[in-house]
Amino acid sequence: MLATYDLEGKRALVTGGASGIGLGAVKAYLRCGASVAVNDLPGSGTLDAVVEEFGVSGHRVVAAPGDVGDAEDCPRMVARAIADLGGLDYLVNNAGTPGTRRPIPPDDFDRQDEAFWNLLLNVNLIGPYRCTKAAAGALRDSGGAIVNTASISAHGGGGSSSVYCAAKAGLVNLTKEWARALAPRTRVNAIAPGIVESAWMCRFPGMERDAPGVVPLGRIGTPADYGEAILFLSAGADYITGQTVNVDGGLTA
Ligand SMILES: NC(=O)c1ccc[n+]([C@@H]2O[C@H](COP(=O)([O-])OP(=O)(O)OC[C@H]3O[C@@H](n4cnc5c(N)ncnc54)[C@H](O)[C@@H]3O)[C@@H](O)[C@H]2O)c1
Repeated sequence: MLATYDLEGKRALVTGGASGIGLGAVKAYLRCGASVAVNDLPGSGTLDAVVEEFGVSGHRVVAAPGDVGDAEDCPRMVARAIADLGGLDYLVNNAGTPGTRRPIPPDDFDRQDEAFWNLLLNVNLIGPYRCTKAAAGALRDSGGAIVNTASISAHGGGGSSSVYCAAKAGLVNLTKEWARALAPRTRVNAIAPGIVESAWMCRFPGMERDAPGVVPLGRIGTPADYGEAILFLSAGADYITGQTVNVDGGLTA
């Protein structure tokens, strides 16, 4: 059963919100009556389609195109979203990239070169920093909350590359740092997804086929599963901050 909150008058910004986990969060907020700014890459047809679809059905939703990996574009995007929404209660730092279509084994140092490091750290680690910095004042004013999308690969590897695992481990650490930095007005938590049903560009061979056998709850996590966890950590969870919750059907249990 889906959790529900009365979020009438609340305002959320979800990065990478046009697809997958981010879209799951957007739907959860809209279902509860919040106004939502949906961020995704500039020129994304998916972003336009998502905003139009929800707008037509009467939801308060605005597009917030911008690249979280761009030091100038990102703060501008956040500032405009806050202005469009008239303030901010929830920031979901969800946009991310694996930077590869096929998983890279840990011993393949050549494919994990300087350019690859720069891309992954820039989008997956500095991106959330840029958004958090740009939104911190508005979140302090509202007494709001941040949820970061990390990964279970942050805890022990096994992600699409060592660099990806390191970036997500950094985000778990920053979740604690920012929880202290922004307390007591703003809580900061993270989810660590396991196997995800999404358009994620990097696929592990046989993942969908094998998931029921390896995930204790017997299935892959859906965007709705992750959206619900994000909703709880932001709109509920009043006494939880600095934590990363594994949302993985028991995979790491
Ligand atoms: N899919 C997985 O297996 C998996 C597992 C653990 C964690 N995650 C994390 O979940 C988050 C969401 O991924 P998803 O599975 O929903 O994938 P997805 O591809 O469905 O969605 C990611 C969205 O982020 C957007 N995006 C990418 N780079 C961006 C940028 N620089 N600026 C703005 N938007 C950008 C993409 O256009 C896309 O719409 C990511 O942070 C990812 O690292 C995914």
